[in-house]
Amino acid sequence: MSPRRNRWSRITAVLATVALAAGLTACSSSEEDDGLLIYNAQHESLTKEWIDAFTKETGIKVTYRQGGDTELGNQLIAEGSSSPADVFLTENSPAMAAVEKAGLFADVDQATIAQVPAQFRPATSKWTGVAARTTVFAYNKTKLTEAQLPKSIMDLEQPEWKGRWGAPPVKPDFQAIVAAMLELTGEPATSAWLAGMKSGAEIYSDNIATLRAVNDGQVEGGIIYHYYWFRDQAETKEISGNTALHYFRNEDPGAFVSISGGGILESSKKKDDAQKFLTFVTSKAGQEVLENGTSFEYPVASGVPANPALVPLDQLQAPAVNPSNLDSQKVTDLMTKAGLL
Ligand SMILES: [Fe+2]
Repeated sequence: MSPRRNRWSRITAVLATVALAAGLTACSSSEEDDGLLIYNAQHESLTKEWIDAFTKETGIKVTYRQGGDTELGNQLIAEGSSSPADVFLTENSPAMAAVEKAGLFADVDQATIAQVPAQFRPATSKWTGVAARTTVFAYNKTKLTEAQLPKSIMDLEQPEWKGRWGAPPVKPDFQAIVAAMLELTGEPATSAWLAGMKSGAEIYSDNIATLRAVNDGQVEGGIIYHYYWFRDQAETKEISGNTALHYFRNEDPGAFVSISGGGILESSKKKDDAQKFLTFVTSKAGQEVLENGTSFEYPVASGVPANPALVPLDQLQAPAVNPSNLDSQKVTDLMTKAGLL
Protein backbone atom coordinates (compact mmCIF):
# COMPACT_ATOMS: atom_id res chain seq x y z
CA MET A 1 0.00 0.00 0.00
CA SER A 2 1.38 3.46 -0.91
CA PRO A 3 1.97 5.94 1.97
CA ARG A 4 -0.76 8.13 0.46
CA ARG A 5 -3.34 5.32 0.44
CA ASN A 6 -2.27 4.40 3.94
CA ARG A 7 -2.77 7.93 5.20
CA TRP A 8 -6.24 8.07 3.62
CA SER A 9 -7.29 4.81 5.17
CA ARG A 10 -6.17 6.11 8.56
CA ILE A 11 -8.17 9.34 8.06
CA THR A 12 -11.18 7.29 7.02
CA ALA A 13 -10.83 5.16 10.14
CA VAL A 14 -10.64 8.27 12.33
CA LEU A 15 -13.71 9.73 10.66
CA ALA A 16 -15.61 6.49 11.16
CA THR A 17 -14.70 6.53 14.85
CA VAL A 18 -15.86 10.15 15.20
CA ALA A 19 -19.13 9.30 13.44
CA LEU A 20 -19.65 6.30 15.70
CA ALA A 21 -18.98 8.38 18.82
CA ALA A 22 -21.41 11.06 17.61
CA GLY A 23 -23.99 8.36 17.00
CA LEU A 24 -23.48 6.91 20.47
CA THR A 25 -23.78 10.35 22.04
CA ALA A 26 -27.06 10.92 20.19
CA CYS A 27 -28.38 7.56 21.31
CA SER A 28 -27.36 7.91 24.93
CA SER A 29 -28.74 11.42 25.42
CA SER A 30 -32.14 11.62 27.04
CA GLU A 31 -33.47 13.81 24.20
CA GLU A 32 -32.68 11.28 21.49
CA ASP A 33 -34.06 12.58 18.23
CA ASP A 34 -35.31 10.18 15.63
CA GLY A 35 -37.62 12.85 14.25
CA LEU A 36 -41.37 12.43 14.03
CA LEU A 37 -42.92 9.04 14.70
CA ILE A 38 -45.96 8.15 12.62
CA TYR A 39 -48.24 5.28 13.50
CA ASN A 40 -48.95 4.42 9.90
CA ALA A 41 -51.99 2.42 8.84
CA GLN A 42 -51.95 3.83 5.32
CA HIS A 43 -50.27 1.81 2.59
CA GLU A 44 -46.56 1.88 3.36
CA SER A 45 -45.60 2.85 -0.19
CA LEU A 46 -47.79 5.98 -0.14
CA THR A 47 -46.59 7.13 3.29
CA LYS A 48 -42.99 6.60 2.21
CA GLU A 49 -43.61 8.86 -0.80
CA TRP A 50 -45.02 11.54 1.55
CA ILE A 51 -42.18 11.20 4.06
CA ASP A 52 -39.47 11.44 1.40
CA ALA A 53 -41.00 14.58 -0.12
CA PHE A 54 -41.57 16.16 3.32
CA THR A 55 -38.04 15.46 4.60
CA LYS A 56 -36.57 16.78 1.35
CA GLU A 57 -38.49 20.04 1.74
CA THR A 58 -38.10 20.59 5.50
CA GLY A 59 -35.10 18.53 6.63
CA ILE A 60 -37.31 17.02 9.36
CA LYS A 61 -36.68 13.31 9.89
CA VAL A 62 -39.65 10.96 10.06
CA THR A 63 -39.91 7.32 11.10
CA TYR A 64 -43.00 5.13 11.23
CA ARG A 65 -44.52 1.98 12.67
CA GLN A 66 -46.65 0.01 10.25
CA GLY A 67 -49.97 -1.63 11.14
CA GLY A 68 -53.68 -1.77 10.33
CA ASP A 69 -56.32 0.90 11.04
CA THR A 70 -57.96 -0.94 13.93
CA GLU A 71 -54.72 -2.39 15.29
CA LEU A 72 -52.91 0.96 15.57
CA GLY A 73 -56.06 2.83 16.66
CA ASN A 74 -56.48 0.36 19.52
CA GLN A 75 -52.78 0.63 20.35
CA LEU A 76 -53.03 4.43 20.63
CA ILE A 77 -56.07 4.12 22.88
CA ALA A 78 -54.24 1.59 25.09
CA GLU A 79 -51.10 3.74 25.28
CA GLY A 80 -53.03 6.92 26.03
CA SER A 81 -50.91 9.94 26.90
CA SER A 82 -47.74 7.85 27.14
CA SER A 83 -47.80 6.95 23.43
CA PRO A 84 -44.56 7.67 21.58
CA ALA A 85 -46.55 8.52 18.43
CA ASP A 86 -46.69 12.04 17.05
CA VAL A 87 -48.93 11.44 14.02
CA PHE A 88 -51.57 8.84 13.12
CA LEU A 89 -52.35 8.07 9.48
CA THR A 90 -55.10 5.66 8.45
CA GLU A 91 -56.71 4.19 5.36
CA ASN A 92 -60.25 4.87 6.65
CA SER A 93 -62.12 7.14 9.06
CA PRO A 94 -63.47 4.74 11.73
CA ALA A 95 -60.10 4.33 13.50
CA MET A 96 -59.65 8.13 13.45
CA ALA A 97 -63.12 8.56 14.95
CA ALA A 98 -62.27 6.06 17.70
CA VAL A 99 -59.04 7.87 18.65
CA GLU A 100 -60.89 11.21 18.51
CA LYS A 101 -63.58 9.81 20.81
CA ALA A 102 -60.88 8.75 23.28
CA GLY A 103 -59.80 12.41 23.45
CA LEU A 104 -56.28 11.75 22.22
CA PHE A 105 -56.03 14.18 19.27
CA ALA A 106 -54.81 17.80 19.32
CA ASP A 107 -56.58 20.39 17.16
CA VAL A 108 -55.29 20.42 13.59
CA ASP A 109 -53.75 23.80 12.60
CA GLN A 110 -55.87 26.20 10.58
CA ALA A 111 -53.15 26.23 7.89
CA THR A 112 -54.01 22.57 7.24
CA ILE A 113 -57.78 22.89 7.65
CA ALA A 114 -57.83 25.75 5.14
CA GLN A 115 -56.41 23.40 2.48
CA VAL A 116 -59.08 20.70 2.88
CA PRO A 117 -62.72 21.16 1.74
CA ALA A 118 -65.26 20.62 4.53
CA GLN A 119 -66.66 17.34 3.12
CA PHE A 120 -63.26 15.66 3.54
CA ARG A 121 -62.73 16.33 7.24
CA PRO A 122 -64.71 16.24 10.49
CA ALA A 123 -66.28 19.51 11.66
CA THR A 124 -64.35 19.14 14.94
CA SER A 125 -60.94 19.73 13.23
CA LYS A 126 -59.48 17.03 15.50
CA TRP A 127 -58.10 15.29 12.41
CA THR A 128 -58.25 15.80 8.66
CA GLY A 129 -58.77 13.85 5.47
CA VAL A 130 -55.53 13.30 3.58
CA ALA A 131 -56.76 11.04 0.73
CA ALA A 132 -59.91 9.18 -0.34
CA ARG A 133 -61.05 5.95 -1.96
CA THR A 134 -64.35 4.85 -3.39
CA THR A 135 -66.31 1.65 -2.99
CA VAL A 136 -66.78 -0.25 -6.27
CA PHE A 137 -68.31 -3.48 -7.50
CA ALA A 138 -65.61 -5.21 -9.57
CA TYR A 139 -67.24 -7.68 -11.93
CA ASN A 140 -66.18 -10.35 -14.38
CA LYS A 141 -67.01 -9.15 -17.89
CA THR A 142 -67.53 -12.69 -19.19
CA LYS A 143 -70.10 -13.44 -16.44
CA LEU A 144 -72.13 -10.24 -16.14
CA THR A 145 -73.45 -7.69 -18.62
CA GLU A 146 -74.00 -4.09 -17.57
CA ALA A 147 -77.77 -4.71 -17.49
CA GLN A 148 -77.28 -7.52 -14.96
CA LEU A 149 -75.31 -5.41 -12.47
CA PRO A 150 -76.82 -4.70 -9.03
CA LYS A 151 -78.43 -1.22 -8.88
CA SER A 152 -77.56 -0.85 -5.20
CA ILE A 153 -75.09 -2.53 -2.85
CA MET A 154 -78.20 -3.33 -0.75
CA ASP A 155 -79.43 -5.67 -3.57
CA LEU A 156 -76.62 -8.12 -2.77
CA GLU A 157 -78.45 -9.42 0.31
CA GLN A 158 -81.17 -10.89 -1.95
CA PRO A 159 -81.25 -14.67 -2.52
CA GLU A 160 -80.75 -14.15 -6.26
CA TRP A 161 -77.15 -13.04 -5.51
CA LYS A 162 -76.37 -16.07 -3.33
CA GLY A 163 -72.94 -17.51 -4.15
CA ARG A 164 -72.32 -14.95 -6.87
CA TRP A 165 -70.38 -12.24 -5.05
CA GLY A 166 -67.53 -11.88 -2.58
CA ALA A 167 -65.94 -9.45 -0.11
CA PRO A 168 -63.21 -9.29 2.59
CA PRO A 169 -65.07 -8.77 5.92
CA VAL A 170 -61.95 -8.92 8.12
CA LYS A 171 -60.39 -5.85 6.54
CA PRO A 172 -60.87 -2.34 8.01
CA ASP A 173 -61.34 -1.20 4.39
CA PHE A 174 -64.54 -3.26 4.09
CA GLN A 175 -65.65 -2.51 7.65
CA ALA A 176 -65.59 1.22 6.81
CA ILE A 177 -68.11 0.52 4.04
CA VAL A 178 -70.36 -1.28 6.54
CA ALA A 179 -69.93 1.68 8.94
CA ALA A 180 -71.20 4.02 6.22
CA MET A 181 -74.11 1.66 5.51
CA LEU A 182 -74.98 1.69 9.21
CA GLU A 183 -74.89 5.49 9.30
CA LEU A 184 -77.00 5.79 6.13
CA THR A 185 -79.56 2.99 6.52
CA GLY A 186 -79.65 2.25 10.25
CA GLU A 187 -79.09 -0.89 12.29
CA PRO A 188 -82.02 -3.12 11.19
CA ALA A 189 -81.22 -2.68 7.46
CA THR A 190 -77.49 -3.16 8.03
CA SER A 191 -78.02 -6.28 10.17
CA ALA A 192 -80.31 -7.74 7.50
CA TRP A 193 -77.70 -7.01 4.83
CA LEU A 194 -74.94 -8.64 6.92
CA ALA A 195 -77.14 -11.71 7.41
CA GLY A 196 -77.60 -11.84 3.63
CA MET A 197 -73.85 -11.51 3.21
CA LYS A 198 -73.20 -14.35 5.66
CA SER A 199 -75.46 -16.74 3.76
CA GLY A 200 -74.80 -15.45 0.25
CA ALA A 201 -71.25 -14.10 -0.12
CA GLU A 202 -67.93 -15.83 -0.63
CA ILE A 203 -65.48 -14.63 2.01
CA TYR A 204 -61.96 -13.55 1.03
CA SER A 205 -58.98 -12.42 3.09
CA ASP A 206 -58.49 -9.00 1.48
CA ASN A 207 -59.24 -6.74 -1.47
CA ILE A 208 -56.61 -8.39 -3.69
CA ALA A 209 -57.91 -11.93 -3.02
CA THR A 210 -61.45 -10.71 -3.77
CA LEU A 211 -60.44 -9.12 -7.07
CA ARG A 212 -58.47 -12.22 -8.03
CA ALA A 213 -61.50 -14.44 -7.36
CA VAL A 214 -63.65 -12.19 -9.56
CA ASN A 215 -61.02 -12.22 -12.29
CA ASP A 216 -60.75 -16.02 -12.13
CA GLY A 217 -64.55 -16.37 -12.33
CA GLN A 218 -65.01 -17.96 -8.87
CA VAL A 219 -67.61 -15.24 -8.29
CA GLU A 220 -69.25 -12.80 -10.68
CA GLY A 221 -68.46 -9.68 -8.67
CA GLY A 222 -66.95 -8.35 -5.47
CA ILE A 223 -66.96 -5.29 -3.22
CA ILE A 224 -63.53 -3.62 -3.04
CA TYR A 225 -61.95 -0.18 -3.18
CA HIS A 226 -61.18 1.27 -6.60
CA TYR A 227 -57.42 1.65 -6.31
CA TYR A 228 -56.65 -2.08 -6.12
CA TRP A 229 -58.09 -2.38 -9.64
CA PHE A 230 -56.25 0.66 -11.02
CA ARG A 231 -52.92 -0.44 -9.57
CA ASP A 232 -53.22 -3.83 -11.21
CA GLN A 233 -54.35 -2.28 -14.50
CA ALA A 234 -51.23 -0.05 -14.44
CA GLU A 235 -49.00 -3.08 -13.87
CA THR A 236 -49.67 -6.66 -15.04
CA LYS A 237 -53.49 -6.85 -15.21
CA GLU A 238 -52.93 -10.31 -13.69
CA ILE A 239 -55.85 -10.02 -11.25
CA SER A 240 -58.08 -7.57 -13.15
CA GLY A 241 -57.73 -8.34 -16.87
CA ASN A 242 -61.18 -10.00 -17.11
CA THR A 243 -62.90 -7.42 -14.93
CA ALA A 244 -64.48 -3.97 -15.04
CA LEU A 245 -65.63 -1.59 -12.31
CA HIS A 246 -69.25 -0.72 -11.57
CA TYR A 247 -69.85 2.51 -9.62
CA PHE A 248 -73.18 2.46 -7.78
CA ARG A 249 -73.56 6.30 -7.76
CA ASN A 250 -77.03 7.77 -6.78
CA GLU A 251 -75.80 8.37 -3.19
CA ASP A 252 -76.08 4.65 -2.66
CA PRO A 253 -74.34 3.23 0.44
CA GLY A 254 -72.25 1.35 -2.14
CA ALA A 255 -71.05 4.68 -3.57
CA PHE A 256 -69.43 5.46 -0.21
CA VAL A 257 -66.18 7.40 -0.46
CA SER A 258 -63.96 6.55 2.49
CA ILE A 259 -61.66 9.24 3.84
CA SER A 260 -58.12 8.39 4.88
CA GLY A 261 -57.23 10.42 7.95
CA GLY A 262 -54.29 12.21 9.50
CA GLY A 263 -54.20 13.44 13.10
CA ILE A 264 -51.74 14.70 15.71
CA LEU A 265 -51.54 13.17 19.15
CA GLU A 266 -52.16 15.59 22.03
CA SER A 267 -49.35 13.78 23.90
CA SER A 268 -46.79 14.50 21.15
CA LYS A 269 -43.73 16.45 22.23
CA LYS A 270 -43.13 17.51 18.64
CA LYS A 271 -46.46 19.06 17.78
CA ASP A 272 -44.95 21.88 15.68
CA ASP A 273 -43.20 19.44 13.37
CA ALA A 274 -46.24 17.14 13.38
CA GLN A 275 -48.43 20.08 12.30
CA LYS A 276 -45.92 20.86 9.55
CA PHE A 277 -46.21 17.27 8.33
CA LEU A 278 -50.01 17.41 8.07
CA THR A 279 -49.83 20.82 6.41
CA PHE A 280 -47.39 19.36 3.88
CA VAL A 281 -49.47 16.23 3.16
CA THR A 282 -52.55 18.38 2.42
CA SER A 283 -50.57 20.98 0.42
CA LYS A 284 -50.34 21.02 -3.36
CA ALA A 285 -46.99 19.18 -3.25
CA GLY A 286 -48.33 16.55 -0.83
CA GLN A 287 -51.52 15.97 -2.79
CA GLU A 288 -49.63 15.76 -6.09
CA VAL A 289 -48.06 12.60 -4.68
CA LEU A 290 -51.59 11.13 -5.03
CA GLU A 291 -52.16 12.62 -8.48
CA ASN A 292 -48.85 11.45 -9.94
CA GLY A 293 -47.66 8.57 -7.75
CA THR A 294 -48.50 4.88 -7.81
CA SER A 295 -51.18 4.82 -5.08
CA PHE A 296 -54.20 5.63 -7.32
CA GLU A 297 -55.95 7.00 -4.22
CA TYR A 298 -57.80 10.32 -4.59
CA PRO A 299 -56.38 13.69 -3.53
CA VAL A 300 -58.84 15.60 -1.32
CA ALA A 301 -57.10 18.94 -0.76
CA SER A 302 -55.45 22.01 -2.28
CA GLY A 303 -57.48 21.76 -5.49
CA VAL A 304 -55.27 18.98 -6.86
CA PRO A 305 -57.09 16.80 -9.44
CA ALA A 306 -57.17 13.01 -9.34
CA ASN A 307 -54.91 10.83 -11.43
CA PRO A 308 -56.42 11.19 -14.95
CA ALA A 309 -57.02 7.39 -15.10
CA LEU A 310 -59.68 7.71 -12.35
CA VAL A 311 -63.34 8.78 -12.53
CA PRO A 312 -63.26 12.25 -10.88
CA LEU A 313 -64.51 12.25 -7.29
CA ASP A 314 -67.25 14.79 -8.03
CA GLN A 315 -68.77 12.42 -10.61
CA LEU A 316 -69.19 9.53 -8.17
CA GLN A 317 -72.43 10.81 -6.54
CA ALA A 318 -71.19 9.60 -3.17
CA PRO A 319 -73.57 9.79 -0.19
CA ALA A 320 -72.81 12.50 2.38
CA VAL A 321 -71.44 10.84 5.52
CA ASN A 322 -69.98 12.58 8.57
CA PRO A 323 -66.66 10.73 9.01
CA SER A 324 -66.70 11.30 12.78
CA ASN A 325 -69.92 9.27 13.05
CA LEU A 326 -68.41 6.08 11.62
CA ASP A 327 -68.45 3.65 14.51
CA SER A 328 -65.95 0.81 14.17
CA GLN A 329 -66.92 -0.81 17.47
CA LYS A 330 -70.60 -1.01 16.55
CA VAL A 331 -69.69 -2.41 13.12
CA THR A 332 -67.44 -5.15 14.48
CA ASP A 333 -70.16 -6.02 17.01
CA LEU A 334 -72.79 -6.36 14.26
CA MET A 335 -70.42 -8.31 12.01
CA THR A 336 -69.50 -10.63 14.86
CA LYS A 337 -73.20 -11.16 15.61
CA ALA A 338 -73.76 -11.98 11.93
CA GLY A 339 -70.97 -14.59 12.07
CA LEU A 340 -68.72 -12.69 9.67
CA LEU A 341 -65.85 -12.08 12.13
FE1 LIG B 1 -55.97 -0.66 1.13
